[in-house]
Amino acid sequence: MKNQDIFQKIVSHCAQYGFVYPSSEIYEGLSAVYDYGPVGNELKRNIKNIWWLSMTQLHQNILGIDAAIFMHPTTWKASGHVDAFNDPLIDNKDSKARYRADVLLEEHAEKLRKKGKKEQAEQIEKRLAQCLEQNDLKGLYDLIIETEIVCPVSGTRNWTEVRQFNLMFRTEIGSVAGQGMEIYLRPETAQGIFVNFVNVIKTNRGKLPLGIAQIGKAFRNEIIARQFLFRMREFEQMEMQFFVAPDEEMEWYQYWKEKRLQWHKAIGISTENLRYHDHIKLAHYAKAACDIEYQFSFGFKEVEGIHARGDFDLSQHIQYSGKKLDYYDSERKQTYIPHVVETSIGADRAFLMVLFESYHEEQAPTADGKTELRVVLKIHPVLAPIKLAVFPLNNRDGLPEICDKIVDECKYEFKVVRDDKDTIGRRYRRQDLLGTPFCATVDYDTPKDQCVTIRDRDTMQQERIPIDRVKDYILQRISPSVILKKL
Ligand code: GLY
Repeated sequence: MKNQDIFQKIVSHCAQYGFVYPSSEIYEGLSAVYDYGPVGNELKRNIKNIWWLSMTQLHQNILGIDAAIFMHPTTWKASGHVDAFNDPLIDNKDSKARYRADVLLEEHAEKLRKKGKKEQAEQIEKRLAQCLEQNDLKGLYDLIIETEIVCPVSGTRNWTEVRQFNLMFRTEIGSVAGQGMEIYLRPETAQGIFVNFVNVIKTNRGKLPLGIAQIGKAFRNEIIARQFLFRMREFEQMEMQFFVAPDEEMEWYQYWKEKRLQWHKAIGISTENLRYHDHIKLAHYAKAACDIEYQFSFGFKEVEGIHARGDFDLSQHIQYSGKKLDYYDSERKQTYIPHVVETSIGADRAFLMVLFESYHEEQAPTADGKTELRVVLKIHPVLAPIKLAVFPLNNRDGLPEICDKIVDECKYEFKVVRDDKDTIGRRYRRQDLLGTPFCATVDYDTPKDQCVTIRDRDTMQQERIPIDRVKDYILQRISPSVILKKL
């Protein structure tokens, strides 16, 4: 299948089967904003849950918080986001379309490379990197003019100058219009952790090394939002800041780099689709940084970032708040500002990664000896939205009642559904589309032998087991411990 095809198929699959819908679709949607439907929501919750457990339950010294989205605006001055969280934008005067100047140039270089003009492409990339490094907006404009890039909409080269565009959404807090305080929707959850570091240490008799984990919404007013869930204006982060003694930072950076890759593998992502990307050019706060990238149909892209942030954030908050945010290390008998190793993963990107990894089209045998196309999401059972579907072979002779009994027994433990429409084959296909790992069929032998047939989604093997073992059979395979034990 062509890459573009698979991408389109996944987007359609999401809309058709209740994974993801465009936001406010009845009003033609809102660009780069999406809603999760019933099965998508279950999958996303399961991904967030396994991350949460892998941080806060597996590690005695990682504590979870849930900070507010709104924060005092000085937070963002201190963090550098007010001054430096910008993208360079350019408008075409004819089409009025807005672009990221760096993306226009990157795409142009890519086109040249595809045409075999490697040297020209490299030259553009080199100059682009210099301009970005030096914040040289005029240089970016000149490069766009020199390379004769045209607007894809109007086809003209009638460009405005390049300007900086801050990615934070602004709003106002307070009841009287015009007299409130201007605040921001947080562009990352990390700052909610930094400003609470001392609270958490004090109220938990915390000792370093200590991690603080958080899952929550973040907002970025992306100039161009592309690739479905990959770059959204409202998205969800799963971030953990690990506070350590300054001389231990790089050791912990290595530790988390490895641990996080292991997590991706443990949730069922194949090794060949994962890679590290070590940053050469570092953000102003970082001592070392790397991404864990997943191979989507549109290339290897960042799903998670691991950063050695030094004492940048706490130092900035000390400076801006005037508060004491250092730490007395009773073992070393020293006071210092802790250094931080951050792990930051996008929940929506992780969701998209799981869909790409699990989407399969294959030929499957039918009851009449032929084959048919089977679209199946081979999602790890621990993450799957629905764990068990129970089918009565017929809607009579007491079979539906037996199904209800199984559902009632299981529903306290996991998500189970009864499905009684169409042939059994079609019901299997329907559950395959949702990624349900186990289907149990109640047939005419069931009232006699008190057994059901359980079909495994991936192997398609069937196993006959007693009704009273069904719940435990599934529980064993969907318990978070199946993943956590690999970490
Ligand atoms: N906290 C890192 C990030 O939001 O990318």
